[in-house]
Amino acid sequence: MSPTQSANKSPFKKSDNLLFDPALIPAELQDVLPPGYVVRPLAKTDNQVRSNTSFLKTLEVLTTVGNISDEAFQNRFQYLQERNDQYYTIVIEDMNVPATSATSATSSTPYLVTPGRGKIVAAGTVFVERKFIHELGMVGHIEDIAVSADQQGKKLGLRIIQTLMAIGERVGCYKVILDCSEKNVPFYEKCGFERRGVEMSWYV
Ligand code: ACO
Repeated sequence: MSPTQSANKSPFKKSDNLLFDPALIPAELQDVLPPGYVVRPLAKTDNQVRSNTSFLKTLEVLTTVGNISDEAFQNRFQYLQERNDQYYTIVIEDMNVPATSATSATSSTPYLVTPGRGKIVAAGTVFVERKFIHELGMVGHIEDIAVSADQQGKKLGLRIIQTLMAIGERVGCYKVILDCSEKNVPFYEKCGFERRGVEMSWYV
């Protein structure tokens, strides 16, 4: 069964705390993660640092993230959430890590699994562009793929990419594309991507 054909048995419920509806994440992609790991939409509380990890810390394997205040994070989260048919950011959380007193989630939070109880170990985004060509076609752009240094090699990167590809397909994209460095080409080829075209950049 392909990811797009599976039933939506997400361990998460749709909620204002989550960036988008978790039912878009195929259940079988949850099932193939290591025990105790879950894949879910980015949550409003994911900027909080627990065990020296958070969504923003996870992104630091990619590039400079900078000093982002809680208010700035919340403002950006709200912007993305208001456009949550365009921005799909996901994280993988290791729930084997015990919760600390720093967690803001409460026992009354209506999740089968409570986001923020564990440790974020991987992240990625698919941004959906709406075009005129291809009969108003939509293209998914994969961005900002990051797996924490101590978690690389466990197929978490592959699961992030498979999840983003499935989301792109489910929301109606006719293709999903990405830019990467030469050294990551073998990884993306293993995920099913092939070389097409050349990336061009202009930095302000
Ligand atoms: N070269 C060759 N093969 C690789 C590489 C590589 N650099 N990285 C992974 N692979 C292979 C693995 O060996 C594995 O192969 P197998 O199925 O034969 O065993 C397969 O690809 C899947 O590997 P994963 O375990 O899923 O890879 P991982 O979880 O380590 O994630 C990633 C790979 C995302 C590149 C991670 O190493 C990382 O976060 N790197 C730093 C940040 C980065 O470069 N991100 C990508 C930027 S590009 C973008 O965002 C669009």
